[in-house]
Amino acid sequence: MRDFDEKQITAAVLARMEQCADARFREVMRSLVSHLHDFVREVRLTEEEWMSAIQFLTDTGKACTDKRQEFILLSDTLGVSILVITLNHPAVDGTTDSTVLGPYYREGAPEMPHGANLAQGVKGEPAFYSGRVLGSDGTPIAGALLDVWSGDGEGTYDMQMEGEADMKARGRIRTDAEGRYAFRSIKPECYPVPTDGPVGRMLRKMGRHPMRPGHIHMIVSAPGCHAVTTHLFAAGSEYLDSDAVFGVKESLVTGFRRHPGPL
Ligand code: BEZ
Ligand code: FE
Repeated sequence: MRDFDEKQITAAVLARMEQCADARFREVMRSLVSHLHDFVREVRLTEEEWMSAIQFLTDTGKACTDKRQEFILLSDTLGVSILVITLNHPAVDGTTDSTVLGPYYREGAPEMPHGANLAQGVKGEPAFYSGRVLGSDGTPIAGALLDVWSGDGEGTYDMQMEGEADMKARGRIRTDAEGRYAFRSIKPECYPVPTDGPVGRMLRKMGRHPMRPGHIHMIVSAPGCHAVTTHLFAAGSEYLDSDAVFGVKESLVTGFRRHPGPL
């Protein structure tokens, strides 16, 4: 067939995929093509606009390095990351909510003893964290691993610190026989997602701020259990209602109590 009009072109592209042997790939690509064509028709996209979108995606790819993933940042700031997480990890029966991984996770943080300070020599207000890891039926999970990381008290991650090769404000802690964990770190503060690349340009053009409320990250895992990638957000932190990556869940917002004396 030739001479496709603005509707027929969609049917023609879908028909070309009929022989695709991978049923799931076919389903996903059929939907993607249909929605993309609908979008182009709906906004009557101009050639200039399509070229600037292609240039934007090209710039996004070029901004990626082994230390920076601009496509993940794009997915995060457009709410796609949290949508995929929410679809795939519904918190059922009181299990802990999941949220975005973010770009600052590093594998291989040191395993530290119960109560250890993860943020030795890191700027920020000292804070003590403790809790229990329980299964969905309330059974304590002994030997669960909490892989914890955060920025410093100004929201700067070790990977962003000039000339800093060591891990800072990161560590892995195991739960005891009652599923208890405890560690020290800093109280997390608000900080912006990276804005010096194409995603920053997009946010400015959209009239959006780049800030995230104060949070500390953790991945909690245990043999035979689903791992959960989550945060604790500091209650009262600015931007809880306008997180640049839409990651806030009410169940993850927690208060910090002031304790007199040294920690
Ligand atoms: C973060 O939590 O640090 C983060 C998450 C998503 C995008 C950028 C930063
Ligand atoms: Fe973060």
